[in-house]
Amino acid sequence: MAGNIVETVFWFMSYSVLLGFSHADPTTATYNVLTFGAKPDGKTESTEAFIKAWQSACVSLMPATIYVPKGRYLLTYTNFRGPCKRKVTFLIAGTLVAPEDYQALGNSGFWILFNHVQNLVVSGGYLDAKGAGFWNCRRSGKSCPVGARSMTFNLVNNLVVSGITSINSQLSHLVINTCNNVVVKNVKLIAPADSPNTDGIHVERSNGVTINGCTLQTGDDCISIADATYNLFMSNIKCGPGHGVSIGSLGKEMEEKGVENVTLTNAIFSGSDNGVRIKSWARPSKGFVRNVLFQNILMNNVENPIIIDQNYCPHNKDCPGQTSGIKISQVAYMNIHGSSATPEAVTFDCSPSNPCEGIKLQDINLTYNNEAATSSCKNIGGTSSGTLAPESCL
Ligand SMILES: *[C@@H]1O[C@H](CO)[C@@H](O)[C@H](O)[C@H]1NC(C)=O
Ligand SMILES: *[C@@H]1O[C@H](CO)[C@@H](O)[C@H](O)[C@H]1NC(C)=O
Repeated sequence: MAGNIVETVFWFMSYSVLLGFSHADPTTATYNVLTFGAKPDGKTESTEAFIKAWQSACVSLMPATIYVPKGRYLLTYTNFRGPCKRKVTFLIAGTLVAPEDYQALGNSGFWILFNHVQNLVVSGGYLDAKGAGFWNCRRSGKSCPVGARSMTFNLVNNLVVSGITSINSQLSHLVINTCNNVVVKNVKLIAPADSPNTDGIHVERSNGVTINGCTLQTGDDCISIADATYNLFMSNIKCGPGHGVSIGSLGKEMEEKGVENVTLTNAIFSGSDNGVRIKSWARPSKGFVRNVLFQNILMNNVENPIIIDQNYCPHNKDCPGQTSGIKISQVAYMNIHGSSATPEAVTFDCSPSNPCEGIKLQDINLTYNNEAATSSCKNIGGTSSGTLAPESCL
């Protein structure tokens, strides 16, 4: 009888831990990459060791932490695949470095890739993708590999990315693709102003993404927002150099799902090409942009502080004579002030076939050389209120 009770209690406790509903938090299993053969010398290839640590953590029946101690770890294309049994935390105290020779990343398109994971935390660490060789290859006009995004999340739900610094990515630093319920906070993404296509954060096909407290200095968009992105909230963003926060380019394809519910609040743009931009191809499309709020923004010497450009047609190829099918509506610009680096601080160039609707300007004060800047409007309807400098063209 007593034996039976002990057995039952034991069985119950094990079962509880297994299913994760014991009263005490189940302990975390920790997997140190050094144990799996990673070498913190910056020279010895550690990809396999990282993958082995990941695989062990991924099948753990307890929440698992992969720990990367201080030191430099050389990684080539690294694909962390799920699904995993429990929550996985990647805790990085060290630096991850890509090979000096960009050919080593081949044509995978990725450097560090997380694929198909539920409940993932990636915290801390310094990423050095050594992009300069790749940029030089592209500038030289030689034929180059496709290039690698530094850290990509594909099909990841319930994701927190925090405290990461990434420098010199070949292409985008951080990509959120087909993810739900994501928090990106306190990341610093840095590449030279003239590095080609080094976007900071790229969000695509994702729902419920919060980006907070990030410093973005890049050669392309600080944040780029692509099709099928819904409920994106960005706050406390510092951007520049870079091409600004950009919804688009959208509407290259006919079948698009649109972008809805995007907020940017409390941001500083410094010396960037754009501030807040919505950009679409001058091509037919079923896509749209609606319910967008840009507010509490300081512009320091920004070339196009506020811009909607629906006439994107690089090299006049595949779109001459066409108009954008992207419908832009319910976009509010509130409390945006500072300086423009060009005379025209507000540019609304909307589609003649799909005019912008419900655009709202409130409390805008943008100057050019300490004097009044100008604004221009095409194919747009909306309202304005409060202080407006330049005068509203709505
Ligand atoms: C956008 O936000 C509104 C209001 O919160 C919500 O009802 C709607 O479902 C959201 N759209 C999407 C695509 O999630
Ligand atoms: C706009 O800002 C400038 C300086 O930042 C200030 O001198 C000017 O009075 C402001 N204009 C309005 C209309 O508030």
